[in-house]
Amino acid sequence: MYELLSDAQRVTVDTPYGPPSEPPARGVLGGREVVFVPRHGADHRFAPHRIPYRANLWALRALGVRQVVTSCAVGGLVPELAAGTVVVPDQVIDRTWGREHTYYDVEGPVVHVPFADPYCPRGRQAAVAAAQAGPLPAVDGGTMVVIQGPRFSSRAESRRNARDGGTLVNMTAMPETALARELALCCTTLALVTDADAGVEGGEHVTQDAVLELFARNVATLSGILEATVAALPDDDCECRHVLDGQKLPIVLPERIH
Ligand code: ADE
Repeated sequence: MYELLSDAQRVTVDTPYGPPSEPPARGVLGGREVVFVPRHGADHRFAPHRIPYRANLWALRALGVRQVVTSCAVGGLVPELAAGTVVVPDQVIDRTWGREHTYYDVEGPVVHVPFADPYCPRGRQAAVAAAQAGPLPAVDGGTMVVIQGPRFSSRAESRRNARDGGTLVNMTAMPETALARELALCCTTLALVTDADAGVEGGEHVTQDAVLELFARNVATLSGILEATVAALPDDDCECRHVLDGQKLPIVLPERIH
């Protein structure tokens, strides 16, 4: 993904939560100034439960980012979402545990951000249009069940996730999406279905190799959709930026430092 940016420059940023997964790269994508952080690290050394999510989102905001667009591999929990489909999710179910999941865990004014609609409505519109204009099947809306990992789900867990209304399963969307909201950042996700999770009874089941192989095969297409999404993001104000308006905060949020 680094190759996607033109005029890319690495920026060193520290945060109250330690360094981000990798020094962010600032550059141009889709005609816009963007900052890129690979959540797993450039060499994929952070497992989903070990990613420094708070540092990553904090660093993005400190570098002036106001709209976050994430991409990820997901399992499909319903037959309509076959491998190779791009989904722009609109809901999440959080099944992660033990992760540093909030900035507001310090003594002081208590902050409860709204999360009924976890994703930016305007960013989603841009992403859906970009995905639908691309060569892969594209779906507007999906409920992402976020599991703790790093192992995949058992068949029973997979069935339960589908019964609970999940249509996608992934290991990184939480706390990432919620932390973006806590920093009043817009957040939009492009999810590429790589597998059918634990699969039907006795049938195929997901493996790490299968996920990596399908993702690698489609990464250029996904990058094109990402670029088109970034180009189409609205410039003007957004409701996501106002979730903390009038709220007393126990911490000082980062303003643009570079
Ligand atoms: N990422 C890609 N496929 C996945 C699956 N089946 N479960 C969790 N995370 C995934």
